[in-house]
Amino acid sequence: MHITIRQLQVFEAVARHLSFTRAAEELHLTQPAVSMQIKQMESSIGLPMFEQIGKKIYLTQAGDAMLVHARTIMRHLEAASEEMNDLRGEDSGRLRVAIASTVNYFATQLLADFAKENPAVEISLDVTNRESLLSRLEANLPDLALMGKPPADLDLVSESFMDNPLIVIASPDHPLANARRITLADLAEAHFVVREPGSGTRVAMERFFSEQGFPYQKSMELMGNEAVKQGVEAGLGLAVVSAHTVEKELTLQRLVQLDVDGMPIMRRWYVAYRKGKRLSPTAEAFRRFVIEAGARRSEPGS
Ligand code: PGA
Repeated sequence: MHITIRQLQVFEAVARHLSFTRAAEELHLTQPAVSMQIKQMESSIGLPMFEQIGKKIYLTQAGDAMLVHARTIMRHLEAASEEMNDLRGEDSGRLRVAIASTVNYFATQLLADFAKENPAVEISLDVTNRESLLSRLEANLPDLALMGKPPADLDLVSESFMDNPLIVIASPDHPLANARRITLADLAEAHFVVREPGSGTRVAMERFFSEQGFPYQKSMELMGNEAVKQGVEAGLGLAVVSAHTVEKELTLQRLVQLDVDGMPIMRRWYVAYRKGKRLSPTAEAFRRFVIEAGARRSEPGS
């Protein structure tokens, strides 16, 4: 069955008016042009869509059934066209952002600032650890991802936008809380609370310790940054976390940062998307917004 969208439009108009003449007027076509479109459509379907009794035309049974489909198809076309129109404007459209859990400590503010400038944008935020974030990118679910350094084997376009220093934290009553220039050898007896497997923070910490030839001791494995921080506060051990996650606790002195030689481990945050993905204007606007916000945050005195 070879029918065109134009034929469906003509058919729908004739069916609505039950008149070739009025359909022709509405569509700014001649009456023979309308008849021709319907004839071609009927011959490619192999069934008549209309029947004439006296001076009136009626839909046949096939025409009735076809009308339901024609309207559905046209509704979908309209929805598609509306969505494309939205996506063409910078201040509308949808934005799907996936972020690593550690990014959540500053990304919500970033998204709130962006939403204030672009009130028509509908934002959905997906927060997960690095490993699940990578599988979401692989499935092409988010428009953009905010994450640690992307792996080379997943084809991503990425740009770094901000520092991500990893520091060692302890509870304020830890024996090393006030010590200066602590070496990793000084931490030989210490125990570490660590993030779940799949966390980028954990991968970076383990890479650093192994490069330094430091076999750290694990006291407990906990899911997510909040659990790790609470574990450290409760005295379960030390932890390596992103400085972004503990700004409040350090200010309130519920946790302290240890002065360890060679730390912080300096990482960067990246904004990334799949190579070949066509970013919508909204997604591109957000990508630029993130990079500019990162640059402002790195300015001296900020
Ligand atoms: P995560 O952070 O530890 O929450 O997975 C991502 C990363 O540091 O790459």
